[in-house]
Amino acid sequence: MSLKRVMVLTGGGDCPGLNAVIRGIVKRAAQEKDWEVVGCIESFNGVLREPTEIVILNEKSVENILAQGGTILGTTNKGGPFEWPVRNADGTWGTVDRSDEMIRKLGYLDIDAVINIGGDGSQRISQRLSKKGLNIVGVPKTIDNDLSMTDYTFGFQTAVQICTEAIDKLVTTAASHNRVFIMEVMGRDAGWIALHSAIAGGADVCIIPEIPYNIDKIKEKIEQRYNKRHGYCIIVIAEGAKPVGGSVTGSATGEVGYQHIKLGGVGEQLAAELKAAGVEHDIRCTILGHLQRGGTPIAFDRVLASEFGVRAMEFVIEGRFGQMVAYHHPDVVGIPLDEAVREQNLVSPTGRLVHSAKGLGITFGD
Ligand code: F6P
Repeated sequence: MSLKRVMVLTGGGDCPGLNAVIRGIVKRAAQEKDWEVVGCIESFNGVLREPTEIVILNEKSVENILAQGGTILGTTNKGGPFEWPVRNADGTWGTVDRSDEMIRKLGYLDIDAVINIGGDGSQRISQRLSKKGLNIVGVPKTIDNDLSMTDYTFGFQTAVQICTEAIDKLVTTAASHNRVFIMEVMGRDAGWIALHSAIAGGADVCIIPEIPYNIDKIKEKIEQRYNKRHGYCIIVIAEGAKPVGGSVTGSATGEVGYQHIKLGGVGEQLAAELKAAGVEHDIRCTILGHLQRGGTPIAFDRVLASEFGVRAMEFVIEGRFGQMVAYHHPDVVGIPLDEAVREQNLVSPTGRLVHSAKGLGITFGD
């Protein structure tokens, strides 16, 4: 009997739990007699580059990776089969579509199916490859939790835990020095990390992209938190936040083929705006940055990622392609890739969690 081959890859920014998904896929496949698993290095680059970089994945290769952060396969958020970076004759960079060539190459490599573990950008690639006839299953990952068709993406709860522990630490130094602390967190267009950690850490102010802020409202809250010069105030701000009528703070990275604007700096901007608005207390800003994505996944994310891995492999075995696995409590279900990438999951300004946060006295600057 000839073996069938499934190729696994991780795309986009890394995220705690990626290795747990890979392990889940390999362990489930090992229970079948007719499937073998290979890993493609650095998203689809392992197939697109010459020489090809593909590794056999067996139970030995996934031993002891459950708790390991990052991804044993490597990843990238640059380029991809539809936008492969090439240098033009005049020295500038452009892109070419290499998707047909890549699908042909997967055929030469006897790849029967692909599991693409990635965020919205990666699942958009899965959807386009699926339309071209590739047997593909998507697994949603991102610390931002911004995919609408799954209750949670793995990695998100770990990022929230890291941010919450950081707030706990900032509280002690803020209280000792009577300072205002601004903590900037990731999340791109979604305020989920900021909102969850602000509630869990007992912050006073939470600024998210979905609710543009008015500086006077934040100043008002700060003053309430002080009795003359005694007091402190903790502000959590999402990197994609913006003032009413303003825009996000970020810049192009200048990295070839990079898919995003690099967000960052809104915390310092808020500090400057507060000073300009007349806040006289000391203000300090902490940017957590990639600490939020590094290190070991917490138990919730290990469980979710492991389940996603097992189910994705089962979809492959059952021939259920063109689907993304998703968590719909209490089940792990399949969502057609077309639907999976249609909308972002953003915080509702009138939703339950913002309501609860306001009930706790958290100010959103609106
Ligand atoms: O999408 C995950 C994420 O961590 C975002 O929260 C953040 O804006 C972005 O990736 C950072 O990307 P990079 O690792 O390329 O700086």
